[in-house]
Amino acid sequence: MGKDIITLAFETSCDETSVAVMKGGRDVLSNIISSQVQVHQVFGGVVPEIASRHHLEQINSVAGEALAAAGVRLGQIGLIGVTQGPGLVGALLIGLATAKAFAFALGVPIVGVNHIHAHICANYIEHKGLEPPFIALTVSGGHTNLIRVRGYNDYEVLGATRDDAAGEAFDKVARVLGLEYPGGPAIDRVAEAGDPHAVSFKRPLLEKDSLDFSFSGLKTAVLNYVNTERQAGRTVNVPDVAAGFRQSVVDVLTAKTMQAADAHGGATVVMAGGVAANRLLRKSLGEACAKRGIALYYPQPLLCTDNAAMAGAAAYYRYTEKGEDGLGLDACPNMQMG
Ligand code: KG4
Ligand code: ZN
Repeated sequence: MGKDIITLAFETSCDETSVAVMKGGRDVLSNIISSQVQVHQVFGGVVPEIASRHHLEQINSVAGEALAAAGVRLGQIGLIGVTQGPGLVGALLIGLATAKAFAFALGVPIVGVNHIHAHICANYIEHKGLEPPFIALTVSGGHTNLIRVRGYNDYEVLGATRDDAAGEAFDKVARVLGLEYPGGPAIDRVAEAGDPHAVSFKRPLLEKDSLDFSFSGLKTAVLNYVNTERQAGRTVNVPDVAAGFRQSVVDVLTAKTMQAADAHGGATVVMAGGVAANRLLRKSLGEACAKRGIALYYPQPLLCTDNAAMAGAAAYYRYTEKGEDGLGLDACPNMQMG
């Protein structure tokens, strides 16, 4: 198995149908992402059944586009990678069924990847010299974790959210503020014009030694504030509330990440997942890391949110260290790290 192995990778865990062609673990030959955001926007969130149907409608043409864009023939594919979980079960199954069909037809190995692992691997694509060990903050719509990455496939979860994921809180607060789905980018944009001190919310830091997160209380505090103001007939200043909420989430993520780096001697911090695209989080973590002499890495926004290139990178590192999974591979909607 050469380091230049060509991987065809599939990602369908949520509302992005994506297929990529990777060379080795770090070079993207193509990364086609067909977003369903507009389909789900009218519902204010992802409708699982509709997501599955759209994946089914899109996946063959997205795969064809990925192969054509990479300029790769089917005979050159040496490995199939596919997101196994966590995610929406119906959505995952479309990617898995398609990936297995390719693996069977081409007679090549197939590897299932953990979606959170894949988010972390997006950084290997962006930063060619980056290698473990490091501390990873993975922040998405479905997960918020602090992970000690000891090797390409060696993880220790240091902390996780006890309720809402950071992105989920962004999406729910955006909805009550009348902003479009997905809420993270919308809040990030609107907050730029707001004053983060005008309406201030508590920073949920939990117990001193804990590296866990909790965003549900903060989300409820924002919802209560907005409802109280509206019931009293006062106009809610959306940019100020968005800025106050964003500041609170970012302060908590920054403080806990620095706490993890201090406790585990992390000289390198890596950020991954959709919320890693947040402007204030990049700035805040950048400043905190610079103060401590810690190197900080994060991917470009396109590689922060869901895409198949990161699944291809994760598949490469899993396959080279652990071998193939075989066609019995099944969806694992609640898949854990480690
Ligand atoms: O990683 P991702 O594409 O999907 C999951 O694995 O969940 O992350 C999507 C999440 C959504 O909750 C979205 O609102 C959030 O990432 N997000 C952001 C930003 N861009 C995307 N949150 C805050 N600021 C952003 N700029
Ligand atoms: Zn994701």
